[in-house]
Amino acid sequence: MNKKERQGILMDYITIALAKGRLAKKAMDMLEEIGITCEEMKDPDSRKLIFSNEELKLRFFLAKANDVPTYVEYGAADIGIVGKDTILEEGRKMYEVLDLKMGKCRMCVAGPESAAELLKHGELIRVATKYPGIAKDYFYNKKHQTVEIIKLNGSIELAPIVGLSEVIVDIVETGSTLKENGLVVLEEVCPLSARMVVNQVSMKMEHERITRLINDLKVVLASGPSR
Ligand code: PRP
Repeated sequence: MNKKERQGILMDYITIALAKGRLAKKAMDMLEEIGITCEEMKDPDSRKLIFSNEELKLRFFLAKANDVPTYVEYGAADIGIVGKDTILEEGRKMYEVLDLKMGKCRMCVAGPESAAELLKHGELIRVATKYPGIAKDYFYNKKHQTVEIIKLNGSIELAPIVGLSEVIVDIVETGSTLKENGLVVLEEVCPLSARMVVNQVSMKMEHERITRLINDLKVVLASGPSR
């Protein structure tokens, strides 16, 4: 029981924003392991956007991955669960507090094997990606190579096949999309996984409850296999 609870003051809701899709399901499974459940979220036919656990004074909502950091920075969500790729791309002001060790994959430069030479010699090439911020940082700040970045919204692997770009910067998980399209990983940009992020004001105002949540998750992470 925290100070507010002891004093009988009504607890505020803590709002958690989850990136829609596979990650949200896995994150809810992990939260369930520390006793945080949300029954109404399990109804597959529901069109509701926001769910709550009245007993624990928690609210959950699902958002497009790219929007999760926005909700957290502005405090519309106290906590967010989202991939490191989105965190890097969005560059929002918030605390990244925990690596949830799930949804593990890598951000890579990929292309046909022949493109390796172009990377070696720092040529002016075209790079297609859903992550222009990450691609720019990698090529300009880490490799000091001037490139033309072309923003796409999906099926990035198509770009080098149809001649839109020489290489791509994209997520590689199993590697099967690259393989089936005759492409290879040329360079690794960084490893990725799901992270928990916290609004900077919420971290102060709800320090006790949020820290307890983080610590409980750390125990689960330390005991279980990586997912
Ligand atoms: C992601 C990514 C790759 C693929 C990698 O795409 O952009 O295309 O998964 O996974 P793999 O290494 O296991 O094959 P996603 O399915 O999210 O769709 P998108 O192409 O529309 O971005």
